[in-house]
Amino acid sequence: MGVRADSRRLPSDPPPSSLPEGEGISLSSPEAAGQPPAVQTLDLAKHYSKVIALAGLTMTVAQGEIFGFLGPNGAGKTTAVKLLLGLTRPTGGEAWVLGARAGDRESRRRIGYLPELFRYQDWLQAREVLQLHCLLAGLPAHLHHAEIDTALATVGLTKRATDRVGTFSKGMQQRLGLAVALLGQPRLIFLDEPTSALDPVGRRDVREIVRDLKRRGTTVFLNSHLLSEVEQVCDRVAIVDKGRVVAQGLMSEVIGGARAVRLRLTGVNGAGHTALAHFGSVEQEGDWYTVHGVEEETVPALVAALVQAGAQVHAVAPRHHTLEDRFLQLLKRVE
Ligand SMILES: Nc1ncnc2c1ncn2[C@@H]1O[C@H](COP(=O)(O)OP(=O)(O)OP(=O)(O)O)[C@@H](O)[C@H]1O
Ligand SMILES: [Mg+2]
Repeated sequence: MGVRADSRRLPSDPPPSSLPEGEGISLSSPEAAGQPPAVQTLDLAKHYSKVIALAGLTMTVAQGEIFGFLGPNGAGKTTAVKLLLGLTRPTGGEAWVLGARAGDRESRRRIGYLPELFRYQDWLQAREVLQLHCLLAGLPAHLHHAEIDTALATVGLTKRATDRVGTFSKGMQQRLGLAVALLGQPRLIFLDEPTSALDPVGRRDVREIVRDLKRRGTTVFLNSHLLSEVEQVCDRVAIVDKGRVVAQGLMSEVIGGARAVRLRLTGVNGAGHTALAHFGSVEQEGDWYTVHGVEEETVPALVAALVQAGAQVHAVAPRHHTLEDRFLQLLKRVE
């Protein structure tokens, strides 16, 4: 959905040059120096009577980055996006988007949005939906044709351009939603679960589209539950739970380094077991041993100790934590 400008004016005072130090605050990347952040929030909150949808969100997204916004169902992700778009009003805190107050009419012209739940008019052709959104977004008429053709080609719907939306599969509707979000070459695109209905090919296509947007300098704000996908495309992530940020930073910072090593060993005697236990807690499955709590730089010493103890070392594989491991740990869904 293109973001339609509305008549409600919000104050357009500039965002603070820096936010106070505190949990969950990270600075813009150096590449973005001189540009206002794509998104900046300070204690942003939304309460629906007794329901706290967002408890106080403080974060910064630099221009040009792919930002993953993650959290379990009901964590407040969609609420945050709606607040940033000015589609709903905060009950506390502040937010700036592309240097203007969230909801500012002019900055909304430079934003694309794929909503989580949407339904286009069944009786319209794909091309007509895009045409309608070109009008809603206020794009100059002479650009409509090229914009629509490019958007259709990007999402792989060129051949279905004149088919009615009512005949589209779920995945095709989602592709069309993405095409709408791309119209007008926005500076910032919010994608709320863009691949939930897509097959593996569609998901890969979306990853490619997102990477291509980054190459063009577009900022992408991505809500997704598909953590392996987020891990592949995002530069930075924030994980929210119960309306609060519980971790944010570069992907590598949030995931952390390898903290376990898997080894295939034979001839492990008492001394070998002692050597393994000296480096961390050990799990064994046949010849495979996993030693938890081992940093990468300690691996050579571990191997040397095993050889010294008479074990034969057939394979050594540092095990990197995945974003999913970290997500589950943070949300205490596993030990
Ligand atoms: N209009 C509303 N009225 C009342 N409560 C709402 C409203 N919109 C959202 N909420 C509540 O706010 C909380 C956060 O909802 P939100 O849709 O932001 O979650 P989410 O992180 O996007 O979840 P999901 O992963 O399921 O999409 C939920 O408890 C939800 O029920
Ligand atoms: Mg949501």
